[in-house]
Amino acid sequence: MKNSKILVTGCAGFIGYHLCSRLLENKNYDVYGIDNLNKYYDIELKYNRLKVLKKNKRFHFYKLDLVNKEKTLTNFNKNKYKYVIHLAAQAGVRHSISNPQSYVDSNIIGFFNILEGSKEIKVKHLIFASTSSVYGASKSFPLKEIYNTDGPLSFYAATKKSNEIMGYSYSHIFKLPITALRFFTVYGPFGRPDMALFKFADSIVKNKKIELFNKGKHYRDFTYIDDIIEGIFLLINKTSKDDVPFQVFNIGSENPHYLKKFLKIIEDNIGKKAKINFRPFQLGDVYKTHADISKLKKKTGYKPKTSLQKGIYNFIKWYRNYYSK
Ligand SMILES: NC(=O)c1ccc[n+]([C@@H]2O[C@H](COP(=O)([O-])OP(=O)(O)OC[C@H]3O[C@@H](n4cnc5c(N)ncnc54)[C@H](O)[C@@H]3O)[C@@H](O)[C@H]2O)c1
Repeated sequence: MKNSKILVTGCAGFIGYHLCSRLLENKNYDVYGIDNLNKYYDIELKYNRLKVLKKNKRFHFYKLDLVNKEKTLTNFNKNKYKYVIHLAAQAGVRHSISNPQSYVDSNIIGFFNILEGSKEIKVKHLIFASTSSVYGASKSFPLKEIYNTDGPLSFYAATKKSNEIMGYSYSHIFKLPITALRFFTVYGPFGRPDMALFKFADSIVKNKKIELFNKGKHYRDFTYIDDIIEGIFLLINKTSKDDVPFQVFNIGSENPHYLKKFLKIIEDNIGKKAKINFRPFQLGDVYKTHADISKLKKKTGYKPKTSLQKGIYNFIKWYRNYYSK
């Protein structure tokens, strides 16, 4: 039997890299990756992730900006992907307040081009990354997919919520099977330098001050990268059977932790205390995230396996090894 062609956009990014690695372990997939390799954070990390992926002959890479509709559609028509997993986006809550344009470009126009390409070649399943940030300032926990998401606190969240609505309409009009995944704070090896774990660890190791917002009195449903990847993997062949084949799932650990506790585990792993610069609550931030993952469990049997202690341990081990070279 011929291998299934699967496209992962944002393949040089944190989640995209791990997803491609996992897909390549399965000999039934030929994995195609698209990324524009932008400089939002240290580009070396992106090159190094790609270097690992390119060792596998079943991985094919295109440097392409999804904002370019013509090139995106040409790529889709040439490769006729069976599945598309769209992770490319301008990420980051705080960055979206000062740089909204890049979010309109990648997250709205880029997303539209993915919808167009997927429609044209009739992909079997388009899965894309949404975010827990769409829940805004919800006061009911754990957060369920049916809760109101009309009050995004950041522009980033607004663009992701827009994706869900745009996706629904394409699913309705063209009967395109689409799944939105609301990821809850993903962390792990090869992670993003703009996120708390990387920033805290890096500053502690380098004896720099960390910035702690709201005295660390936030709760986050930290989700280890392998658990996120497992959730995506389990969903590839699980489209919605509804008239409008559009579905939304939370992927979290179902286990929120206090940010101060998170910091303590990082300090214990590094063996050094953080120097802290206390900062006020940040505009755009939410106070707490806590996923209800019963919908995903019911659909796929998903079960997050990695404790916060183990996940942070794995990250610090990776960080020390990566930066010792
Ligand atoms: N990491 C998290 O905690 C988290 C939480 C919720 C949602 N998400 C979403 O998951 C997805 C992956 O996140 P990540 O943490 O891996 O981020 P990342 O920034 O590491 O990866 C995104 C990749 O997309 C690429 N990209 C951006 N715009 C592009 C464009 N116009 N054309 C082609 N490539 C483009 C970037 O170069 C980058 O390599 C994103 O959609 C993000 O919004 C992430």
